[in-house]
Amino acid sequence: MSGRPLIVAIDGPAGAGKSTVARKVAEVLGISYLDTGALYRALAFYLDSRGIAPVESESLFRALDEVSIDIDGEGVFLDGKSVGREIRSPRIDGIVSAYASLPMVRDRLLSLQREQGERRPLVADGRDMATVVFPGADVKIFLTATDEERARRRFKELEGRNEPVRFEEVLEQIRKRDRTDSGRETAPLKKACDAVELPTDGLSIEEVANAILALVRKTSK
Ligand code: CDP
Repeated sequence: MSGRPLIVAIDGPAGAGKSTVARKVAEVLGISYLDTGALYRALAFYLDSRGIAPVESESLFRALDEVSIDIDGEGVFLDGKSVGREIRSPRIDGIVSAYASLPMVRDRLLSLQREQGERRPLVADGRDMATVVFPGADVKIFLTATDEERARRRFKELEGRNEPVRFEEVLEQIRKRDRTDSGRETAPLKKACDAVELPTDGLSIEEVANAILALVRKTSK
């Protein structure tokens, strides 16, 4: 048992249900939820809307230096303004991984994420929670599901938001994003050697959340 707050780290590919499950686990434990994907999405949105390409460049360096990013509870703020649904559009789905593969972008977000974990107990989800950001996390989970299952979940979510998309497109985009996230050199998506893999096909959100809660309760905190 360490002196710092409890950290539950949840990683996994796109559409594995990380955010829904992480939010639920945090709620049951009465602790905060840190959605690190929202930070990458917010930065991708910011850079894209300023015409800054996803390559390491002087203009990228300057933009990252100038922009202020803050977290308050579940809210993400860019230059003091709260970001909303605009970071969840199919456009951002399609470009976020390219920005997230850049070491400059990842460096910009690293200390911000770690500070959150030093301040308060949390459930954090993303791609490199257990491997890079919180390697000392108390519980490490790697959530998986088949490509088709993940695409079905994402498709339903987009349909619910009245975003016009085709299932095949969603499936292809999920696969493409996974390839970029797993293939990048800096902090690739991968299971930490001491993480517990949880395949979620056919399981409800409650069942997955309960499996994680059981692991949390087994730790001595
Ligand atoms: O919800 P979903 O799994 O589709 O994605 P997300 O968690 O919102 O993350 C969006 C993208 O941000 C991912 O595809 C990664 O490219 C990037 N990301 C990352 O590189 N590292 C993280 N810790 C979290 C997200």
